[in-house]
Amino acid sequence: MKKDITSRKIQHIKIVLENNVEPIPSSLDNYRLPYKALPEIDLNKIDTSYNFLNSKLSFPFIVASMTGGAQMAETINRNLALACEQEKVALALGSMRVILKDPDSLKSFNVRSLCPSIPLFANMGLVQLNYGYGADEINRLIDAISADGIFLHVNHMQEAIQPEGDTNFEGLLSKLEAIISKLNKPVFIKEVGSGIDYHSAKALFEMGVKWIDVSGQGGTSWTSVEAYRRDDDLGFAFQEIGIPLDQALIDARKIEGLNIIASGGIRNGLDMAKAIILGADMVSAAKPLLQPALTSSDNVASQFQRWRKELKLAMFACGASDLTSLQELELKKI
Ligand SMILES: Cc1cc2nc3c(=O)[nH]c(=O)nc-3n(C[C@H](O)[C@H](O)[C@H](O)COP(=O)(O)O)c2cc1C
Repeated sequence: MKKDITSRKIQHIKIVLENNVEPIPSSLDNYRLPYKALPEIDLNKIDTSYNFLNSKLSFPFIVASMTGGAQMAETINRNLALACEQEKVALALGSMRVILKDPDSLKSFNVRSLCPSIPLFANMGLVQLNYGYGADEINRLIDAISADGIFLHVNHMQEAIQPEGDTNFEGLLSKLEAIISKLNKPVFIKEVGSGIDYHSAKALFEMGVKWIDVSGQGGTSWTSVEAYRRDDDLGFAFQEIGIPLDQALIDARKIEGLNIIASGGIRNGLDMAKAIILGADMVSAAKPLLQPALTSSDNVASQFQRWRKELKLAMFACGASDLTSLQELELKKI
């Protein structure tokens, strides 16, 4: 089992690096920032900082969950952690279920000492509540890395296309509701690039989930990634299934009080500004960080610096001196 999970993770990384796994253009391309000819602000005074779980981030960014388990994953997580600490952004690690089967694999996730001052998150599939895992196991994952919370991912179409996927998604809402108060730290729910719809988001919020990452369509497609792992290519026909990121954000924003993270095709600071105007509190990305994380923490840090600069320029373009003023703007479709 442990070997299966680890070798699948390595396959995922290789497929993402070597194939076109972004089949659908980002819906954010359909929008233009509201340009202001007289912004009445000083570029050097624009404030991109964001307070998140008792930490002050340099901009509202969280590295989306990617990996763990294998040796390759240890390098990735180490470089991500060092860069996140240096640049003050938050970090979510990849699915950690493997450590419950193989405690040795913890070393690939054990990065807390490298990033002591930033919010750090564990990860597991929500569907595992139907496969023998519960509050005790989730608390073990959180405690194992001294995490500030856990992302539980929902990904039924990925699991359905995955040759060895876990596909019993029955009754997960009530199972989550039953354990949520037993968890040591806050639970965040995320998709993996196919989007979270309004009714699912509302049901999660009503049971006490305060944060969701809508992870909409427009970036890495996990039905495509799993299709590359199949003999019959079944998943490619399902690339179009999902909710575009813009729609997922607009719908989630209708739920008053819900904190929203935007991911799924966020590729530059302009995308970040658009996602924030559409309703995101924070933004997140996975695929663009994979190659830099395989090489060095400096390469990851450069990517963060570039995105932060682009976000600042986008805010300058439309005359927003801080994130609150950015969120108050309106985004128009082209
Ligand atoms: C190599 C790789 C591995 C991933 N592994 C996980 C995972 O273990 N758990 C999870 O919740 N999401 C995982 N994801 C999904 C991302 O967190 C994200 O939701 C999705 O890729 C969309 O973002 P993107 O378009 O910026 O890549 C992974 C993504 C990548 C690229």
